[in-house]
Amino acid sequence: MSSKSGLARMLLLFAALAGASCITLEEAAPPVAMISSMVNKNTAEISQGRDIYVTRCAKCHSVEPVTKYSREKWVQDILPEMAEETNLSVSEAEAVKAYVLAVLASPVINVR
Ligand code: HEC
Repeated sequence: MSSKSGLARMLLLFAALAGASCITLEEAAPPVAMISSMVNKNTAEISQGRDIYVTRCAKCHSVEPVTKYSREKWVQDILPEMAEETNLSVSEAEAVKAYVLAVLASPVINVR
């Protein structure tokens, strides 16, 4: 286990202790440092994807919790539609997809 995932566990514990009444930005869109290094292959792309996710993807609605939807729903339904809504370039859409899939694949984040 790396120290990164240890930090992630602590952050998750604090988030859990803070109660579930309101979801934080870190819970809805976990920072790249919280994504398990096992799935965090291309950090630059995932990082760009997260930046877009918390800024341009939150222009029309609040930051949607990534883990609220299944991988299938994201890939087949949400991402193609929302990338178009956001006028993302192909590489920007790929970055957002890489971020979402990294969050969904992270065993550290999906402990709940
Ligand atoms: C131009 C406005 C706009 C932008 C920009 C936008 N969205 Fe949306 N989004 C919507 C609207 C409107 C809905 C609800 C209606 C729908 O599902 O089409 C929605 C719904 C959603 C949902 C819920 C889907 C569901 O089935 O319940 C998710 C998740 C989402 N958006 C993610 C994103 C992501 C990720 C991005 C950035 C790539 C993004 N949105 C950018 C307008 C936007």
